[in-house]
Amino acid sequence: MEPTPALTIRGVVLYRDRLDTAAQAALVASLRELVQVAPFFRPVTARGQQMSVRMTSAGAVGWVSDRAGYRYQERHPAGQAWPDIPESLLALWKQVVPEARPPDSCLINFYDAGARMGMHQDRDEADLEQPVMSVSLGDDALFRIGNLTRGGRTESIWLNSGDVLVMGGAARLVYHGIDRVRPGSSSLLPQGGRLNLTLRVAR
Ligand code: SIN
Ligand code: MN
Repeated sequence: MEPTPALTIRGVVLYRDRLDTAAQAALVASLRELVQVAPFFRPVTARGQQMSVRMTSAGAVGWVSDRAGYRYQERHPAGQAWPDIPESLLALWKQVVPEARPPDSCLINFYDAGARMGMHQDRDEADLEQPVMSVSLGDDALFRIGNLTRGGRTESIWLNSGDVLVMGGAARLVYHGIDRVRPGSSSLLPQGGRLNLTLRVAR
């Protein structure tokens, strides 16, 4: 199969339609099983602000946020170990970022119609030389890319279901966020909304 031509925005690499409809549906099916074991929860920031996104994780460690701050931990907030990262995602990682170490964490974000994510860097990982790869499923989302420091001019791009994005190299620490999702733009998730899966080498 021909590799999807990549588009690069400020060093962030976007593979449009990297997953076809069947691959997206299969991934959603594995996520349905996964959330039986590790249900979505709504994190709060260290300041006590509820995030609008719901989250869970797979892998040896998962990213959590609560009054104690942000961190990776080996257990879901309810106490159970995180489920394994779906095989299809591990295979995709190997194809897309073959030079990277295997991921040990997959953050799963769910955005309903009003959810967003403020501008931030992904910097809680031990080795910032390792890339971050994200997969979008469901409704379109407006992804904003900033700079290596907070503020300044930004560029926005709509991420669609099946798109895969890589933040690595000089763009590993770029500020990014989700301004909004476009309700009804995809029929992948029967109830609507958007899933974003972020694979990382956390430890
Ligand atoms: C994130 O930065 O954690 C999520 C990005 C996205 O939802 O596309
Ligand atoms: Mn992020």
